[in-house]
Amino acid sequence: MQSIDTVQHLTAVQFNKLYFQENKPVIIKGGVKEAKSYNHWSLDYLKSKFANRPVRVFYSESGYYNFNVQGQMVPIQVSFEEATEYFTSNQYNNKSYYMQQVSIPDVFPELMDDLETPEWNLPSDLINVVNLWIGGAGCVTPLHYDFAQNFLIQIMGRKELTLFAPTDAPYLYPSEAGKVHLSQINLDAVDYAQFPLFRQAKPFRCSLEPGDVLFLPPGWWHHVRSLDAAISVNYWWNRFELIPGIGMEQYPVAVLTKEINRFLEAGLPIDHQDAEGEFLLINAIGKGYVNIVEAFLSLGANANLVSTHFRPGKTALEIATASGQHKMVSLLQQYGAKEKQPNASH
Ligand code: OGA
Ligand code: FE
Repeated sequence: MQSIDTVQHLTAVQFNKLYFQENKPVIIKGGVKEAKSYNHWSLDYLKSKFANRPVRVFYSESGYYNFNVQGQMVPIQVSFEEATEYFTSNQYNNKSYYMQQVSIPDVFPELMDDLETPEWNLPSDLINVVNLWIGGAGCVTPLHYDFAQNFLIQIMGRKELTLFAPTDAPYLYPSEAGKVHLSQINLDAVDYAQFPLFRQAKPFRCSLEPGDVLFLPPGWWHHVRSLDAAISVNYWWNRFELIPGIGMEQYPVAVLTKEINRFLEAGLPIDHQDAEGEFLLINAIGKGYVNIVEAFLSLGANANLVSTHFRPGKTALEIATASGQHKMVSLLQQYGAKEKQPNASH
């Protein structure tokens, strides 16, 4: 059995280098214990604030909360106070209940004051979604992956997770187009006759206790079971970064341009440097990512940038020329990259 790295302490710089850049999950034990805001989150505390707040709660007779199966996910609208009754009595009317993936800014905006952006995020990261998850013991979110970076933060109760790397996708039987992030396999009762390749998948198992934080990169498959009545928060976010391994370099230029533009609109400079102090344009040239370089240049990146880390002192054009990238060279020239000016004093 493979295991997920578990650390007691992690700086933002270590996080970026060892986990974010590597597309590798990590559990930070007690990662939010110090955060004063989380300490008082309990069902009683939340009930005292939101007794009458209407909330959407799913119920399930099997305990599975499966977005994959038509009609299985049946939401009810109840007051938060009523919902907490359902969460704490394990099998209410022979059903379990899960307030699964509810947007905190939309439904519980007051709680945003209690939250602190995870300390491993950079000021330039885009936080897309912050969710609250509350349910009874036994609730299961079946095997799937998500498209953004994720910090899953455990606040109350324990959760048990089974993870698979993105490279295991061929053995996990993704559903049809539009649902490729949802596996067809029920991990608790695998039908090997139907899904024979599953034998080749390599699971990682881990668990989260109150105060723990799991970093889960995009594309990592996860199956999550609550062992107790549980409260979690998760952050889905993106970093202005070239991440190897997710195939960004193959995206059409228009898609990349749109993605990069989201960050620019949030105020990030186009000539932004990554955590290692290198311009992303230079990084993309070094890796030979023509599409990404074209997207950067078309949005106004400077074609005459000079490397600070990858090839210190070399210009964008020199790097492309030295590695024989003809397409890259003409692209840079098209956007105004110049040969080094001969020194005027000679
Ligand atoms: C997630 C997720 C499931 C759960 O954070 O992406 O799928 O039940 N969580 O906590
Ligand atoms: Fe998920």
